[in-house]
Amino acid sequence: MPHSPAAWWRTASIYQIYVRSFADGNGDGIGDVAGIRERLPYLRDLGVDALWLTPWYVSPMADAGYDVADYRDIDPIFGTLAEAEALIGEAHENGLRLIVDLVPNHCSDRHPWFQEALAAGPGSAARERFWFLPGRGEHGELPPNDWRSYFGGPAWTRVTETDGSPGPWYLHMFAPQQPDLNWEHPQVRAEFEDILRFWLDRGVDGFRIDVAHGLTKKPGLPDVGPDPDPTDLPYQDTDGVHDIYRSWRAVIDAYGGERVFVGEVWLPTPDQFVRYLRPDELHSAFNFEFLCCAWEVGPVREVIEQTLAAHALVGAPPTWVLSNHDTIRHVTRYGRQETGFDMGDKRHGAPTDLDLGLRRARAAALLTLALPGGVYVYQGDELGLAEVEDIPDDLLQDPTWERSGHTDRGRDGCRVPLPWSGDHPPFGFSPPDAPAEPWLPQPLVWKDATAEAQSGEPGSMLSLYRTALTLRRTDLTRLPETVSWLGTGPETVAFTRGDDFACVVNFSEAPVELPAHHGVLLASGPVTGGLLPSDTCAWLRLAPGAASDTNAL
Ligand code: GLC
Repeated sequence: MPHSPAAWWRTASIYQIYVRSFADGNGDGIGDVAGIRERLPYLRDLGVDALWLTPWYVSPMADAGYDVADYRDIDPIFGTLAEAEALIGEAHENGLRLIVDLVPNHCSDRHPWFQEALAAGPGSAARERFWFLPGRGEHGELPPNDWRSYFGGPAWTRVTETDGSPGPWYLHMFAPQQPDLNWEHPQVRAEFEDILRFWLDRGVDGFRIDVAHGLTKKPGLPDVGPDPDPTDLPYQDTDGVHDIYRSWRAVIDAYGGERVFVGEVWLPTPDQFVRYLRPDELHSAFNFEFLCCAWEVGPVREVIEQTLAAHALVGAPPTWVLSNHDTIRHVTRYGRQETGFDMGDKRHGAPTDLDLGLRRARAAALLTLALPGGVYVYQGDELGLAEVEDIPDDLLQDPTWERSGHTDRGRDGCRVPLPWSGDHPPFGFSPPDAPAEPWLPQPLVWKDATAEAQSGEPGSMLSLYRTALTLRRTDLTRLPETVSWLGTGPETVAFTRGDDFACVVNFSEAPVELPAHHGVLLASGPVTGGLLPSDTCAWLRLAPGAASDTNAL
């Protein structure tokens, strides 16, 4: 079915809920389904269109739920399947669609299939659903190839057979507790189509696909060698992966209600990336080029141009994303000297000017919400939260910390439980009668960042997001998708969409003059005398009476 131009997801704002850190309903210090259900009015009032929930399935939590042991049930830490079903219904009642996270590249080592494979022994059919290969070296003591895990260390672990003898090795591109599935195997394909139907039958509006570029591997699993070409790696973006999405697309299209696939596609070139967005594959994918881009005028303009051009080739809507549960929060990134993001070098602890970062984050919020396409808001973006950089070593939970030999502090700093209210931890994260310690410690400075403290404060980040998301829905999503650059000088990113609307961001250190306009719809900082301050974004009304009232701060 071709992409439908009016579909909701083409212009949606989607809020990412990192389930274990959003809200704790049962008082154990870990977020859960009950907590989300209680906070649905907050999400509705924020003005987003949909929610994406990180994995909530049964899991030993070796990678915070991205190691799934049962794809058809909810982990008891998060609740029950009945609660999940209730949440889906209640989200819909609140006008919110709900997208779940599907993890198809690997499962948990506790998944029945992997347990069966271990028990069944070498050469068994049960092992063919995974990548079990003999080791190299005289006694098979070396891994089958030179692939490295994304979390550090080799991508292979050797099995000890039930009789105690050393066996073959199995592939895990992430932690050893996350064995990669063999997508050449028909049972793997059938199983996941069934899992899709299981959740579609329960009313979900779509799936975020974890590691969408990685499911299939190059035949023979060849070495990458000492100097690999990042555009031609044997464990990502191999041709077979597109067949999987074509067959999934047929499954989802058989359901009504415009349900969607959103791919986590991390690839080095736009050409590779947009192949996933052809009309019979995924509907959309996260724009990591934009997320990784430095807060600098040239690169930002370039990444916007490149994004729009690449998506136009396949007729898919662009998306805009500033942060997620794997990255450094952008308030922190934008307050550093190096403002780009690099997964391989997260620059933990680099000197940071958080006031500057926050000012830029406000501008970036308006920029992303003004561009055509879909937009993702990671929980806490709307509160202006910074990365938590002082979590004590012994409390770090991300497997990256151990796997990297304590050289990469990992992703815990963006996963700290949200501050909702009050002036001390757990800041309303857990119920008042059961204020358990949150699973990661919250910084005391968050007393000023709680949703409660920011509500009704006209200058707060929360107010900015609420106003912007509402205006986006009422006015901006109706604008033409075409972006036309405005010649407002080399230090600005400025564009119009149609005759009535312009968005201008000032990247210079001095104020710049705004182009001729009839009103300021919204601005991320004070606009006086027609001047836009440094690191500030303004939405302008160009024609008299063209849109809503002025919302300048
Ligand atoms: C994705 C997830 C990340 C997880 C990894 C392995 O990149 O976003 O959190 O660790 O996949 O499933």
